[in-house]
Formats: sequence, C-alpha cells, structure tokens
Amino acid sequence: MSIFPLFIRRLYVRSKWFIKNYDKIEYNSTIFFPIFGPPTYNTDGLTTSTNCDFIKEKKFAAAYEAARKTNPWPNFTLMWRIHVVCWVAENIKNLEGDFVECGVNTGAYARAIIEYINFNSLGKMFYLMDTFEGLDQKLVTEEEKKMGILSYNYRNTYEEVKKTFAPFNTKIIKGSIPDTLPQCDVKKICFLSIDMNNVVPEIAAMEYFWDKIVINGMVILDDYGFPLHINQKIAFDKFAKSVGHEILTLPTGQGLILKTH
Ligand SMILES: C[S@@+](CC[C@H](N)C(=O)[O-])C[C@H]1O[C@@H](n2cnc3c(N)ncnc32)[C@H](O)[C@@H]1O
Repeated sequence: MSIFPLFIRRLYVRSKWFIKNYDKIEYNSTIFFPIFGPPTYNTDGLTTSTNCDFIKEKKFAAAYEAARKTNPWPNFTLMWRIHVVCWVAENIKNLEGDFVECGVNTGAYARAIIEYINFNSLGKMFYLMDTFEGLDQKLVTEEEKKMGILSYNYRNTYEEVKKTFAPFNTKIIKGSIPDTLPQCDVKKICFLSIDMNNVVPEIAAMEYFWDKIVINGMVILDDYGFPLHINQKIAFDKFAKSVGHEILTLPTGQGLILKTH
C-alpha cells in the first residue's frame, strides 16, 4: 500500500494542530529546533535526543519482547513507559508485599515486569484486575464522554491473559472495578499500577489499596500526564495531597508516587 495517503493525513493533522497551538509555541521551542543531537526516541508522544541505551540492554530487550508478544496492538512502541515500570519493579521487589495491577488489557506491563525481575523467584503474588472487555461505560463521566474516552476500543483478552500468565504466580480477577476490589485478598502491596483510562475506578482503586501499600512501595499511574486524562490528574493530585504525598510527573505521561509515610 502506498504511504502517500498516510503522509497527507499526517500532514493535515499536524497542520491543524499547528494552527490551533501556534501562539503557545516559544521561539526556541524544540518544535523548530528539535533537539541537541540525533533523535534517540521518537514515539508515544515523546521526541528526544536524551540517552536511552536501556532499549538495547539485554535484560530490558527480553522483557520488552515478552510484553510485545502479548500483542496489545500492532506496532506496539511503549519502550520508555515499560522501562519505567520495570525500574520501579526492580527497586521495590525486595520490600514486603505483593504486586497489583488495575487495568491489564493483554498484560504487557505485567509480563515485562515478570521477565525483568524474575518474578516467580520472589515468592510474591501478582494480582491482575480488569474487566478484560474494556471500560465499564456506566462509570465513565459525562465530561470524559465529551472528551472522547469511549473511543478506546479493547478486545476481549481474558482467555489470552489466562494463557499468558498461567506459568507465573498470578491471580486474575475479572470484572469491573470498584465492584471486584473486595475479591482481591492482598494484605500488603509493594507495587501498584493503575491504568484504566477513566477516573472513577482509578480513584476507587487508589483509595481501596493505599493503606495496604508498604513504606517505600510505589504507585505508577499510567495516564497521569496525558491531556485526554486531565480528570484523572486532578483527582489524583487531590488524593495525593490528602495523604501528604506528591506525584512525580514523568515525560512519558506517567505519574509516580513513592509512599514515604
Ligand atoms: C490501557 S489498558 C491497560 C493496559 C495495561 N496496563 C498494559 O500493560 O498494557 C486499560 C484497561 O483498563 C480496563 N478497564 C477500564 N475500566 C475498567 C474498570 N472499571 N474495571 C476494570 N477494568 C477496567 C480495560 O478493560 C483495559 O483493559
């Protein structure tokens, strides 16, 4: 297939974006003067010349390949986000407590982590919670609907996920959060990933699990910095303030919380 129509479409989308945002672009913006060297990373909303040799490291490459093989979608390129979740997992793996992910889809993050830290050797449990059939529409707010959150399209991944994670210490909990939260019998948590793309179940999960997170445990919020998910950011900032913590905004769009007290 010719790439010409794709090129025209991209040019159209870029031009529209430029016209809408040109007054916000500074003279020395990286849009005009891209970066200080050859681009090292140019995908998933992030373009930079910052060193990302981690992509070539053997341990990371194996973990990323395991994630890619879960087949979330064609041309899956979330290397930097997966680098972050693997780094978090590596740094908390010797704390007391189990791992929990709310919003699993095919399990790309969980599968990468399992590979990266040799999860089965740790004697921990990885709880994987999802409807496995997309967003629970009744929980999506009117504002989120207007913003286009319902355009996310997920296939039914339950059978795939059962197969992918059968060899590992995992408990798969199928159904809508918050309804399924009491089914998760975890006592202590050292790693919590929240990635459901809508605010109501995400905040419910955070409120439910926060007290179970051990000191120095970490929470990774996948959608925190993305414009489409501004309602999640507002809600999580409020939550973090209420428990005396601050969220680190990462250039990948993720938010990171280190539980200190
Ligand atoms: C972006 S995907 C998660 C991606 C995943 N973290 C990964 O490693 O690739 C979002 C997931 O959240 C799930 N989800 C959305 N709302 C939910 C809810 N209320 N309860 C349970 N799962 C939900 C969807 O079914 C979807 O699989």
